[in-house]
Amino acid sequence: MVTWEQLEDMCQHCQACPLGETRTNVVFGVGNRQADILFIGEGPGEQEDLQGEPFVGPAGHLLDLMLSLIDLERSKVYIANIVKCRPPKNRDPLNTEQDACIGYLRAQTALLRPKIIVCLGRIAAMRIIDKDFRITKQHGQWFHRAGVAMTAIYHPSAVLRDPFKGPDTFVDLKSIQAKVRELCPDSFTPLVY
Ligand code: URA
Repeated sequence: MVTWEQLEDMCQHCQACPLGETRTNVVFGVGNRQADILFIGEGPGEQEDLQGEPFVGPAGHLLDLMLSLIDLERSKVYIANIVKCRPPKNRDPLNTEQDACIGYLRAQTALLRPKIIVCLGRIAAMRIIDKDFRITKQHGQWFHRAGVAMTAIYHPSAVLRDPFKGPDTFVDLKSIQAKVRELCPDSFTPLVY
């Protein structure tokens, strides 16, 4: 099996799809390589492309807030995307681009061996949980595959665009918090006064 370092190096040099020509930076992933919880987004946006790190733009600030609401933080989880290079003008990644890139995420998942996977939005849910996934109907539901508990919540960008998605997202986050308590209690940030 490849190491994290080998995998990251392969990604950094990847030209498997046309996004390799237009990217500024490969956005490999961030967080704790021993984490039990993997968050998967769709693909880098403008800020992520410039900084080489996932979820550092406006959606990322909301993701950080979401994590803090359930006693998590970036250092306790791992965050990656379906595609590692920015699709132009933030369009959805094409199936061909996802196909070219998904092997890297599979390898990251194999190295990480998470107990919980949280898909951020429709694109990740359709790729990871079920190709017919309906985010409006199925967000917050739990699926179990190969010993991994999986769920999807609205993408933070979708919540920013439509604050009416906030209450549902809060309920889903609380469900994730309960699942983390059940399956990976060590992932909690200790409460320090
Ligand atoms: N949206 C995503 O899906 N991923 C990022 O890294 C940033 C925004």
